[in-house]
Order: sequence, then C-alpha cells, then structure tokens
Amino acid sequence: MKRKRSRALRPIRCAVGLLAILSMGAAGASSPEARLGRLLYKDENLSLNRNQSCESCHSLRNRFAFVDPDNVREGSPVSDGSVPGRTGTLNAPSAGYAAFSPFFHWDAEEGLYVGGQFWNGRGRTLAEQAAGPFLNPVEMAMPSKWAVVSRLKEVPVYVERFAKVYGLNLDAIPAYEQAGADLQPPLGVLEVYERMTRAIAAFEKGRRFNRFSSKFDFYLAGQTELSARERRGLRLFNGKARCNACHVSAPGIAPYGGMLPPLFTDFSYDNLGLPRNVNIPGDPEPDPGLGGRPDIAARDPGGQELGKHKVMSLRNIARTAPYGHNGVFQTLGQIVHFYNSRDTLGWVPDNNSPGYAESGWPDPEVAQNVNRDELGDLGLTAAQERAIVAFLHTLTDGYPQWGGDPHVPPGTPSPFADTPLPPAP
Ligand code: HEC
Ligand code: HEC
Repeated sequence: MKRKRSRALRPIRCAVGLLAILSMGAAGASSPEARLGRLLYKDENLSLNRNQSCESCHSLRNRFAFVDPDNVREGSPVSDGSVPGRTGTLNAPSAGYAAFSPFFHWDAEEGLYVGGQFWNGRGRTLAEQAAGPFLNPVEMAMPSKWAVVSRLKEVPVYVERFAKVYGLNLDAIPAYEQAGADLQPPLGVLEVYERMTRAIAAFEKGRRFNRFSSKFDFYLAGQTELSARERRGLRLFNGKARCNACHVSAPGIAPYGGMLPPLFTDFSYDNLGLPRNVNIPGDPEPDPGLGGRPDIAARDPGGQELGKHKVMSLRNIARTAPYGHNGVFQTLGQIVHFYNSRDTLGWVPDNNSPGYAESGWPDPEVAQNVNRDELGDLGLTAAQERAIVAFLHTLTDGYPQWGGDPHVPPGTPSPFADTPLPPAP
C-alpha cells in the first residue's frame, strides 16, 4: 500500500513541537485570569436569551467530558442555540485537551496543515476560538462585541476583575445592549472583548481540562495493569489497525525531562470518508472542512484540503458520543467498524437505512481526498474491533474514582500531575 507521506515519523516531531510551546511556561489553573475565565465560561447571561454559556455545550461535569450532555444522552449530532429552533451543523467536540493543539500552521516538511481549533482549524488559538460562540447566530447569538461587553458591565464582579487582572475600566464604556455589528464600537470594547477570550482560554488551559488521570495514564506510569483484552486492543491500535498513525499513543518528552503523556492526536487533518448525517436538522449540505475555509481555498486551487477535518484527541472518548464532525456514528463500536470495513461492507443509501453500519455504509459525504491508504479495509475480526473499543475505554479520566482498582484508590493523584500545561494565551 502506497502512502503519500510518512506518518510514522510524526509522533516524535509532534512532541518536539509541543516541547517548544510547553517550555514557555505553565498557566496555573487558579491564576486570577483563569478564575475570571471560569466565571465567563459558565455565564449564561452572555447569550442573547440569557440561557446558554460555553458550559451548555462543553459541560464541566466529568460524566460529559466537555461536550454537550444533550448529545450524549440523546445521540443528537448537533446542539441547540440560544435562539429556540436554531441549531448548529457540526458535532460539538470536547474542549478537554484542546489547549494542547499548536497554533494553526502549514508544516512544510510533512506537507500538511497542523493545529488550530475547530474541526476546520479556523481558530488559530484557544482565545481566537473563544471569540466565536458569543456572536455565532446558532450558538450564543449576541448581535455584536459591544453588546457582549454591555452584558459584562452589568456584573460588579466583572468590573472589579477586569480592572484587577487587566487594568481595564468597564465603567468607562457606554452600555448598548442592542448594538449591531455594523456600528463602530466605542474605545475599549475590542480590548475588553479580546481580554475576555484570553481569560476563557486561560481557564481551558488549566488542570481541570487536562487531567491526565485515565487508566491508561496510570498504566503508563506503572501503577496498574491493563486487562488482557485492553492490552490486545492497544496492540491492535498501534499495529494492525494503525490508529496511532494519526492518534499518537506514544509518550513524548516533557520540558526539563520526564514524560509528556500522549494526546492521541497529531492535530493534522484528514478526510475519512464519513457518510452524510441526514439527521442534522435541515439536512444541510456537508461541511467541506479545512478546504472550505476561504483562506485555505485561496491557496488550494486543486481542492486537496476539501473534506478534511481535524484529528481529535481520543482522551475521554468513551464519554463524548456521538462521533465524527457530523456525529454520524452513535457508538465507538460503530466508528471502529467503519475504519475496519468502509471499503468492504455493502452499500446503503443513508444513515437511517436498515442495515446502516451492519450490512453497508453510505457514500462519503465529500468524495475528494478520501484516505484510502490508511483505513477502510483493516481486516480486523469482530473480537479485534471489540478489543480496540475496550482499549479506548481506558482513556477516560478520573480512573481513581471510576476504576474500582485497589492499586489506584480514589484520591490517587495523576502520575502526570506535574506535566506543564500550555502557557497562558
Ligand atoms: C451551542 C453549542 C456551543 C456553545 C454555546 C459553545 N460551543 Fe464550543 N463548539 C461547539 C461546536 C458545534 C464546535 C465545533 C464547531 C466547528 O468546528 O466549527 C465547538 C468547538 C469548540 C472548541 C474546539 C475544540 C477543538 O478541539 O477544536 C472549543 C475549544 C470550544 N468549542 C470552546 C467553547 C467556548 C470557550 C465556548 C464559550 C465561549 C463555546 N465553545 C461555546 C458548540 C458550542
Ligand atoms: C489517517 C488518520 C487517522 C487514522 C489512521 C485514524 N483516525 Fe480516527 N480520526 C481521524 C480524523 C481526521 C478524525 C475526525 C474525522 C471527522 O470527523 O471527519 C478522527 C476521529 C476519530 C474518532 C471520533 C472523535 C470525535 O471526537 O468524535 C474516533 C473515536 C477515532 N477517530 C478513533 C480511531 C481509531 C480507533 C482508529 C483506528 C482503528 C483511528 N481513529 C484511525 C484520523 C484518523
């Protein structure tokens, strides 16, 4: 099988890249900036109908690992917005470990794009990402930055904290809650808005989002054993199934020595040939991914980036169903079966057809650039697929609490609790 680029080399390169970022310093989860970020992250008043916050779609409860609880409970692929009846068109990814994604860039050596936030990487950093949801009409739906800042002004704690953390005076800005995006905002608005996104990013870079407390972490540190089936799953993940070509499972080197636990992504982009999810409300046209971004499209006349979406971390993956950028897979079993049999199972018209994922798969939603080298016909048995799923369950954080493992009793600290977190934004 011919491969266009050698992915095998990439884990090491990725670790070196991370090293550079990490060695710039660590943001404490409890810095005043991160504490302000926590308040903002949880504040429903910053949405049009005062009914939605970041937390609504990226829950802080361990059970939901920074995704939308409604999606997990109901299997719905997309999230409701602040305005009733308006929904997005993409599956909310976990905000856990997103802090480790490097600045969006073109890796000339590998010949591919790496890093950034969102399925198509259009947020270059976490702070840039956090600027989006407030103004997105299908999310928090505020009319303008000035309107958001006007909501901030209502809360004395924000007035106090913005002064203390950033030296900015919210009282000096006139309030205009209905301000449209076409209005020139008064002095100070853009700066306050930008600082707000930095505070949120600082919170997301804290320990809470990046716990490294899964069974796999305790196994890596030699504090517990995997079951026979989990071990088989890990071997397949790194071997016959080649998952690790993109979901890097090897530890890197942390600054000042020691281990950087694997993040299970190389933050690159690929088109796996996911079927269209016809259950997204309104059945919108498939998302073109990376190649659909105007800035990328301008440099990509051949459309080589169309259909590519970001490789997401697999940490906490057992808690974040459904799967894929369009949520077309309901379970881990289903997506693993897809990797294994995309090209060998039969065909069915769409994901509501009887036999979907059992006797056939629908066509890819974006036909260009489907990766046929590394997936689609893995030759795994049903038992091997199940072993991979069992292994994926070892990536869930909070193992001391959920594991019932006498070697790792409740309260055991993460073996990687000292791993430096990404620096402040
Ligand atoms: C209505 C639900 C909703 C709300 C509210 C929401 N998000 Fe999201 N979030 C999403 C969806 C959907 C995506 C993927 C969108 C895309 O890729 O274009 C996403 C993507 C992200 C990502 C990218 C993760 C990655 O690995 O690429 C981060 C981080 C994130 N959101 C944080 C936030 C923050 C911070 C807020 C509050 C300012 C917020 N979200 C508000 C639904 C939501
Ligand atoms: C060629 C690179 C590549 C390989 C190999 C690969 N993946 Fe992925 N994986 C991706 C990309 C890209 C996505 C996001 C795709 C999308 O949504 O369109 C993804 C998404 C996933 C998701 C869903 C993530 C989420 O947040 O919804 C799971 C689970 C997953 N992969 C598991 C695996 C397993 C298990 C294997 C091995 C059988 C594997 N992957 C092999 C690139 C890869």
